[in-house]
Amino acid sequence: MKKNILITGASGFIGSFLVEEALNRNYQAFAGIRSASSKQYLRDQAIRFLELDFSNSHLLDMALAGYAKQYGRFDYIIHTAGLTKTINKAEFDFVNFEHTKSLVQALQRNNLVPDKFVYISSLASFGPGNGSDPITSTMARQPLTEYGKSKLKAEQFLHANPAFPFLIINPTAVYGPRDKDFFFLLKSIENHLELYIGSSEQLLSFVHVHDLVSAIFLSMESAAFNQSLLVSDLQTYTAKKVNQLIKERLNKKTISLIIPPNVAGAFAVFSELIGNIRGKVPIVNRERLKEFKAKNWSVDCSEMVELGYEPKFNLEEGLSHSINWYKEQGWMKR
Ligand SMILES: NC(=O)c1ccc[n+]([C@@H]2O[C@H](COP(=O)([O-])OP(=O)(O)OC[C@H]3O[C@@H](n4cnc5c(N)ncnc54)[C@H](OP(=O)(O)O)[C@@H]3O)[C@@H](O)[C@H]2O)c1
Repeated sequence: MKKNILITGASGFIGSFLVEEALNRNYQAFAGIRSASSKQYLRDQAIRFLELDFSNSHLLDMALAGYAKQYGRFDYIIHTAGLTKTINKAEFDFVNFEHTKSLVQALQRNNLVPDKFVYISSLASFGPGNGSDPITSTMARQPLTEYGKSKLKAEQFLHANPAFPFLIINPTAVYGPRDKDFFFLLKSIENHLELYIGSSEQLLSFVHVHDLVSAIFLSMESAAFNQSLLVSDLQTYTAKKVNQLIKERLNKKTISLIIPPNVAGAFAVFSELIGNIRGKVPIVNRERLKEFKAKNWSVDCSEMVELGYEPKFNLEEGLSHSINWYKEQGWMKR
């Protein structure tokens, strides 16, 4: 008998790869989506779709109980659905915290608690590292943004329910095929512009989406419970090194611009005004700027390594892999 796994946020960048990996590992994959979600990367006929409205507990109960009656209980749930950018900051709390709480409570109410509930949180719920020390799982939390705070609140809710079998994954910046955020950096260098906010010596960490997905399944299938696991590619890069690696791979010469934080702040306000008019969240906004300005996003992933995690991609390899994909898809010039 195949085990049932529900992946919420299945239409998104990370969620769509989680669904693929679930099928590769011979799970019966249930893709949790919304009625308007794209199925562009969810084409496999073996996927079963489940429309979930986390804001309506009655509809949520009906959907979960209905599917469980037809297909059996979900053995595992990976809750990936989340809001990473929005014009209205209050939405972070609503989607990332309230929706997570609603889903957990609906599972408890309907006696559908899975063997493990994996919550995809973020490094943003920790906030940056102190000095040049890497962020550790035991570090005092100091999220900078409303996004980070909403993720932390969801984590605190899970910790307040120790009888509920959960695991929290805190990935650093994720990149790879299908991603549109890191792609912005590639495009800027393709257009000969190398941008820094404040300093080029900022410490950064990354994880390729394939490695993140492996880490999530590894920990989900392990004996680890009720703890937070940080995930990166186990390396630390300066912002300058990241840009240099991209330039080498794109074979581009660039003009380097170090933007003072107050100028970047004014630009973010302007971008938000335009974004409000166009109904789009700009890549550079005041919330994101807080993270762009922080000096240290290096990570200690010891707990994940103890579980046997071995990333396959460092940034050099991951960038080449991603750029090939963007070129094949026509997102970048060949
Ligand atoms: N990408 C990163 O660098 C990164 C790093 C750390 C953590 N994370 C976390 O990983 C998760 C996935 O991120 P991603 O990069 O894959 O983002 P994404 O591509 O924007 O995907 C987000 C997913 O969440 C769903 N979603 C958003 N709002 C929802 C709502 N109100 N109700 C139900 N579903 C909703 C989206 O559904 P629709 O398609 O219908 O909009 C989509 O499937 C998020 O929780 C994020 O916080 C991401």
